Amino acid sequence: MKRSRTSKSWMNEHVKDSYVKQAHSDGYRSRAAYKLIEANKKFKLLTKNMVVVDLGSSPGSWSQATVNIIGSQGKIFALDILEMEPIKNVNFVQGDFREENVLNHLENKLGDLKVDLVISDMAPNISGIKTKDQAGIIHLNELALDFSRNWMKPNGNLLVKSFVGEQYEEFIESARKVFTKVVTFKPKASRDRSSEIFIVGQKMKIME
Ligand SMILES: C[S@@+](CC[C@H](N)C(=O)[O-])C[C@H]1O[C@@H](n2cnc3c(N)ncnc32)[C@H](O)[C@@H]1O
Repeated sequence: MKRSRTSKSWMNEHVKDSYVKQAHSDGYRSRAAYKLIEANKKFKLLTKNMVVVDLGSSPGSWSQATVNIIGSQGKIFALDILEMEPIKNVNFVQGDFREENVLNHLENKLGDLKVDLVISDMAPNISGIKTKDQAGIIHLNELALDFSRNWMKPNGNLLVKSFVGEQYEEFIESARKVFTKVVTFKPKASRDRSSEIFIVGQKMKIME
């Protein structure tokens, strides 16, 4: 089949992209690693021995970058609908985070552990129908926030990918009820044409 101009130009952009080249030479599975690395530089999210939950983890570059910092005494639980090639010291759950039984599976793995940091790069498959895609990501954002509320240690942090659009401001308002400070962040590694934005919830409040 003849390739469309859009897919050709995406491929050209991808091949020339310096983050793609860097990921290749640093051994990361995806250029997405640099979004987390940049967020970590700015907000000091990761430290040694932390307990981290990585939602929407495949192919695994955020998990790789996290393990490099938290070390073998830290704990990381990663989850994705898709398979993920194993990473040493990463405990992986495969399933849809929207499903109760998948959440239960993750919760059983956590057991008595409370979480220092939740990172979520989850995004629904883009259908092109803006309202549907927007509703899809906000739903995932709300689930990540709920999970944080239930499983995070006081003073823990959340990094979550969203899209600016309908219900985005409302989501930020909900996050403000849970975290002492909520800011937004567009990493350099995020493509200009992408409407993705990251929300950082800092210092979870002590919840009743
Ligand atoms: C941008 S990728 C994540 C890249 C990853 N952070 C990395 O560094 O390799 C988004 C991931 O979210 C996952 N995802 C989307 N919806 C999900 C859901 N409902 N439950 C679990 N994973 C989901 C997708 O399968 C996809 O692998």
